Amino acid sequence: MMKTEIQEIEKALQSYLPQLLPQENDLRKTLFESMEYSLMAGGKRIRPQLVLEFCSLCGGSREQAMPFACALEMIHSYSLIHDDLPCMDDDDLRRGKPTNHKVYGEAAALLAGDALLTLAFETMLSPESIAAAGAERAARAAGELARAAGAHGMVGGQIIDLESEGKQVPLEVLEKMDEGKTGALILAACRMGCILGGASPAQMQAAEIYARSIGLAFQIQDDLLDVTGDAALLGKNTGMDSARGKSTYVSLLGVEKARETVERLTCTAIDALLVFGEEAKGLADFARALANRDH
Ligand code: IPE
Ligand code: IPE
Ligand code: MG
Ligand code: MG
Ligand code: MG
Repeated sequence: MMKTEIQEIEKALQSYLPQLLPQENDLRKTLFESMEYSLMAGGKRIRPQLVLEFCSLCGGSREQAMPFACALEMIHSYSLIHDDLPCMDDDDLRRGKPTNHKVYGEAAALLAGDALLTLAFETMLSPESIAAAGAERAARAAGELARAAGAHGMVGGQIIDLESEGKQVPLEVLEKMDEGKTGALILAACRMGCILGGASPAQMQAAEIYARSIGLAFQIQDDLLDVTGDAALLGKNTGMDSARGKSTYVSLLGVEKARETVERLTCTAIDALLVFGEEAKGLADFARALANRDH
């Protein structure tokens, strides 16, 4: 939401990356560099910002939420490395740079993804993180991310995406796919922030409506940008979804209807913030900005 916040997130991310020992012929060099290449490639950092924002909105501190925010970004980063592999979307440009496997090769890209996934749990469950967040909240937040990242969430959505290639799938399947591949981590971000901040049941419920709405809107906007966006701004090639026969909201409903859906979902998200009062203005602006984004 703010430049300083993104800088803080990036500083923390950098600090969690594994370090090579100096003056050592360390054969893990390519792996460590490949992890850093993708994690520090300058994404929008949407998910960690949501963790921090919901945590402070519910009365928690940014310090206690930071390791969890970074863990989520590590899993997001791993998901993109694997998403770009030849066996998946086979993309060669990400955030304006060659994709991980183009630079380091497929084996290192695969392993960098694996290592980032594992580093996420190492980061959340370090003695320092547990002490700062409290053992119960730390365990609940880590459990939340575990479930969202796997077969019930992101990975489950990714396989629906691949299985739907070249097919006309019904809207319900598309919804299930987006809820998994993109929605699950965004929902986890908001729920983890709430857990860490000690949200009331009403606050948690509102955060979930907000998260589900912006999560789906976010993927539809991503699909729209693949059709109408500018590759230079996006930092990834456009027209890839239709080239690969991907099923998307845009391929099923067309650009206009997809845009309307983003707009409707964004209004639902903003309305849900009412229980948080004036302090949630930042999150309302955030939802708007996501709907109007060009990258
Ligand atoms: C891209 O996510 C993949 C989707 C889930 C649509 P982001 O658009 O958040 O990617 P970065 O991290 O900002 O590059
Ligand atoms: C990616 O969706 C979702 C995940 C990586 C989990 P896309 O395949 O549409 O993302 P981009 O367009 O490559 O960023
Ligand atoms: Mg994909
Ligand atoms: Mg992709
Ligand atoms: Mg896409």
